[in-house]
Amino acid sequence: MSMQSKYIWMNGELVEFEKATIHFLTPALHYGVGVFEGIRCYATEQGPAIFRLREHLTRMVNSVKILGFRNFPYTVADLAEAVRLTVSVNGYEECYIRPLVYLTEGGWNLTVDAGKPAVGIAVWEWSNYLGEAALEKGIRANITSFTRHHPNVMMTKAKITGNYANSVLAKTESMRYGFEEAIMLDPQGYVAECTGENLFLVRDGAIYTPPTAPVLEGITRDTIKTLANELGYPVLESQVSRDQLYIADEVFVCGTAAECIALCEIDFRTIGDGKMGPVTHAVQKAFQAAIRGRHPRSAEWLDYVNTAVAEMAPVEEAAIDLGSFAD
Ligand SMILES: Cc1ncc(COP(=O)(O)O)c(C=O)c1O
Repeated sequence: MSMQSKYIWMNGELVEFEKATIHFLTPALHYGVGVFEGIRCYATEQGPAIFRLREHLTRMVNSVKILGFRNFPYTVADLAEAVRLTVSVNGYEECYIRPLVYLTEGGWNLTVDAGKPAVGIAVWEWSNYLGEAALEKGIRANITSFTRHHPNVMMTKAKITGNYANSVLAKTESMRYGFEEAIMLDPQGYVAECTGENLFLVRDGAIYTPPTAPVLEGITRDTIKTLANELGYPVLESQVSRDQLYIADEVFVCGTAAECIALCEIDFRTIGDGKMGPVTHAVQKAFQAAIRGRHPRSAEWLDYVNTAVAEMAPVEEAAIDLGSFAD
């Protein structure tokens, strides 16, 4: 995977990729004090379009609030404009988008008040995170020995950078055991989520997903719930035990990076007949249509990028021309 692009947006300026660096003594790097988003831009017949941009950026601004930053200087609209500009000047039809707010200029006394929030936005070409084959064939997972955050230890509604040390521990363990993803249980022992995806199970034509308290409120999770309901499958939030996964007809996970992927084996037990099941298939198909502008819901969920700016040079001019991105 190459993460190389032309420009990274940093605190209001487009900076050449090689120059987009931060100092070793940046508190966020030492204490995990930052929040981020993972967003995707897809090629559609009307050009590149960003999927549920407003919802992602609203969640990021909420993460900023949860982490405790006061006086964050950007609104969702400002950030949306900056994201569209970054995609546009890099000239991608499809890309992954990574905005990050991080603590800088102080904060060594372990308070956010002693420092300031800085913001960067990077984009790069990143095809399916769990591999293209996973979309069709599904993947193998296990229950990790690491527990997901207790909601009063780490804030589970925020994409706080430090939260992801827990995901890294779990996923590293699972991959070393030969699995492709880790399923995490909450502190009560019920199924929570995967390291970067929410989880659903299908039984007797109904879809179940763990309640939101201990998990991230995934935007793909919300999308899948809407699409599944429209396909006639009820989606119920309910506590899910480990053994309910083993005897499910189907299990699937979803997230911006991974999209919608079947889990065909869990803890060495085959799920259903070991292939992507019909409900997962139907939901995945609707999701693929929605993200690529081919679904009745697409108009509401896609934010089209003005590619005209991509041809503009030098980049300073593009930065000044923010007005062309106004809603
Ligand atoms: C822990 C965790 N759960 C779930 C998700 C899925 O969220 P979304 O669908 O908004 O990408 C992610 C990815 O952002 C995640 O990191």
